[in-house]
Amino acid sequence: MIALNKPLTPDLTKLTAYLAQVNESGWYSNFGPLHEQLTKRLEAYLGVENLLLVSNGTLAIQVACKALNINSAITTPFTFVATTSSLLWQGIDTAFSDIDMHSYNLCPIALDKALAKDSNYDGVVATHVYGNPCNVHDIADVANKYNKKVIYDAAHAFDVKIAGQSVLNYGDASTLSFHATKVFHTVEGGAIIFKCKADFDKAKQLINFGIQADGTLGAAGINAKLNEYQCAVGLTLLDDIESVIKHRTALFDRYTNQLKDVVELPQWHPQASLNGAYMPIYIADAQKQKDVMQALAKNDIQCRRYFTPSLDLAYSKQKSFGCGNSQKVAGGIICLPLHNSMSADDVLTVTNVIKEIL
Ligand SMILES: Cc1ncc(COP(=O)(O)O)c(C=O)c1O
Repeated sequence: MIALNKPLTPDLTKLTAYLAQVNESGWYSNFGPLHEQLTKRLEAYLGVENLLLVSNGTLAIQVACKALNINSAITTPFTFVATTSSLLWQGIDTAFSDIDMHSYNLCPIALDKALAKDSNYDGVVATHVYGNPCNVHDIADVANKYNKKVIYDAAHAFDVKIAGQSVLNYGDASTLSFHATKVFHTVEGGAIIFKCKADFDKAKQLINFGIQADGTLGAAGINAKLNEYQCAVGLTLLDDIESVIKHRTALFDRYTNQLKDVVELPQWHPQASLNGAYMPIYIADAQKQKDVMQALAKNDIQCRRYFTPSLDLAYSKQKSFGCGNSQKVAGGIICLPLHNSMSADDVLTVTNVIKEIL
């Protein structure tokens, strides 16, 4: 069987050495020594500052919104459900603006039109879908024009760069997920990268119940801290992350070479590096899509219709500025297996099945 995804497995000898340190110190959570080590190593590896570890990528979005005072937002309908559900759970007034038909990311032109019609939103929440960076420069121009904050859900974009600059350095904040299914993980976990140190400081209080540095209470907070055992997993996996990303990227390139003339593939940001997080393909014809999925299943190959439905349809009570592109893409998208345990031959097995059908 070729699985859709297989989480990275931490080396048990290294992991146990970290866990022994935790047991010895008795410091299990609340910004302990491993939390500090993982923060510093991630900042150095990713080329960012003001990185705050949190307990998952969903809370990362919620805390970022709280820290930036975002109570209403325009967002993308083509993303994992958590990008939207996290906003709605927090009572954020949420509206959808359409995606670009080629990159599948929030379209700056559609966003401009939406904000021209109704500029009553505090911020924009966009996703770098499948690790493919949004058009960050045009989105920044639109956001500046209407004086809006920007949060990027970068759950898929670990270690992605635009012209050598981390994608996490765009917008007022970017959020990461370190769920076990991601390129890098801490079992469950995540991080927020803030442009401003003041926002980072505020968020650090917010994820610790709102307790201020001097022990007094500030704004009401939540518990979103990452514990020391999970940091130990992160520190262990970080040692090998470069070779993991290299391998995933090679698999992605092989898929692309095999399928570029067979199916539609998302158009990648021309200046972006890859991280091999996902392998999405688009098949507009519903019958052909079904045939491909059935043939893959028959050959013991997992795949997934990811992301569907378009979230403007799932949350139809929310305002939509028209999301036809997203609905089209969500109708024809399939993600193929891509993970570190796959071989180049596995890719050929998958692509041969698809080629035979199409
Ligand atoms: C785009 C996106 N945003 C947010 C999340 C939520 O992250 P987590 O599962 O760590 O809460 C995910 C998780 O898969 C995701 O894919």
